[in-house]
Amino acid sequence: MSERHAIPSYLQPDALGPWGSYLQQIDRVTPYLGHLSRWVETLKRPKRVMIVDVPIQLDNGTIAHFEGYRVQHNVSRGPGKGGVRFHQDVTLTEVMSLAAWMSVKNATVNVPFGGAKGGVRVDPRTLSRAELERVTRRYTSEINVIIGPNTDIPAPDVNTNEQVMAWMMDTYSQNLGRTATGVVTGKPISLGGSLGRRDATGRGVFVVASEAARRIGLELPGARIAVQGFGNVGGVAARLFHDAGAKIVAAQDHSATLYAPGGLDTHALLAHVAEHRGIAGFPGAETLDDPAEFFKIESDILIPAALEEQITAQNAGAIRTRIIVEGANGPTTPAADDILQENGVLVIPDVVANAGGVTVSYFEWVQDFSSFFWSEDEINQRLDRVMREAFDAVWQVSVDKHVTIRTAAYIVACTRILEARELRGLYP
Ligand SMILES: NC(=O)c1ccc[n+]([C@@H]2O[C@H](COP(=O)([O-])OP(=O)(O)OC[C@H]3O[C@@H](n4cnc5c(N)ncnc54)[C@H](O)[C@@H]3O)[C@@H](O)[C@H]2O)c1
Repeated sequence: MSERHAIPSYLQPDALGPWGSYLQQIDRVTPYLGHLSRWVETLKRPKRVMIVDVPIQLDNGTIAHFEGYRVQHNVSRGPGKGGVRFHQDVTLTEVMSLAAWMSVKNATVNVPFGGAKGGVRVDPRTLSRAELERVTRRYTSEINVIIGPNTDIPAPDVNTNEQVMAWMMDTYSQNLGRTATGVVTGKPISLGGSLGRRDATGRGVFVVASEAARRIGLELPGARIAVQGFGNVGGVAARLFHDAGAKIVAAQDHSATLYAPGGLDTHALLAHVAEHRGIAGFPGAETLDDPAEFFKIESDILIPAALEEQITAQNAGAIRTRIIVEGANGPTTPAADDILQENGVLVIPDVVANAGGVTVSYFEWVQDFSSFFWSEDEINQRLDRVMREAFDAVWQVSVDKHVTIRTAAYIVACTRILEARELRGLYP
């Protein structure tokens, strides 16, 4: 790949991680971009990359340093938008790919944002609440110069939540000298957050999965669902499928893999996760010792909603499902995509499937600017409409051009991004 792509000097060509997958996805869409393909290099280079040192004093008096990143991949269509991840394995290449997928996602559902993402290389489970607050505030302060309501708007991602967003908003506002609620989304309701935001990504996954199921004649009542990741995205999606009459036959998170052919009591499992911070120890299901068994479990809909690169050339061939709906960002590698396509598995890509979160983030940002807040019904109705319309448009392109849903979504999105790029022109 390094021969065909200009790899920046700050990346190692043989350790591109998910950025390598992203570059391959761009290669796959390029033949469909017509005259806009002359701009395609724009998509292969992040606009702005910031690496910061995040030093904090731990409760025991020692000083700890953590690596932090904020990447703005593309801002041709509007300010940067994308979450902040706290995880011990976060790397620059990971944040770059997540930022790039945000550019594609925002353009797929046509919200007026570019793509950005941030992360801190820290395991938040090892921190006290006070230490977590110090990491959040110092990180926010370090990236302060490139974020803002009109510049780049962070949101929650893995291991960050409403409280972390409240601290980020407060830190930014303290530095500014006035309250700027619109600097982050996914805030608590009492600080300008939006009703419906917490459930939005899982809800979007459910809406899109229902649309896909309808198109292949799969009835949701009785359908077998397997969910990897039982956090914000996977947990909410599982609940909505359960309430629609489907059976959650398998669940996996960092702590365990559960199998229940008759269906899990999803509400009880969610309560268990809230109390124990994981699915391990949940009664009423068989626990599988080998995590690799999860992807071999037969289902009708499989929802990866944990981390990227979970479905690879190694395990894709063993997957027995009809539809994969990507709740996580980048869970399927391009090589796995090819195997799944060959095996007739319909893959609904992340850039459509999990766009519900950023869609309601967009609603939150608009509500903050206008200081006028909508009801939860209004939010959900608008969300459902955006998701259905985006899915419809992508499905149609896929049918017309005989391409996968992923390539179809990239055709829709990259055309929008590069059209904006071309209209704006190069400065100077
Ligand atoms: N939260 C959002 O609004 C949102 C929006 C779009 C996309 N996403 C993506 O969805 C995914 C999940 O995000 P989230 O917000 O639900 O995070 P979360 O922190 O709430 O949950 C993450 C889940 O993944 C599980 N997990 C972690 N490592 C695992 C492993 N090795 N194997 C199996 N499970 C593992 C965790 O146990 C947890 O259940 C991420 O890829 C994220 O980028 C989130």
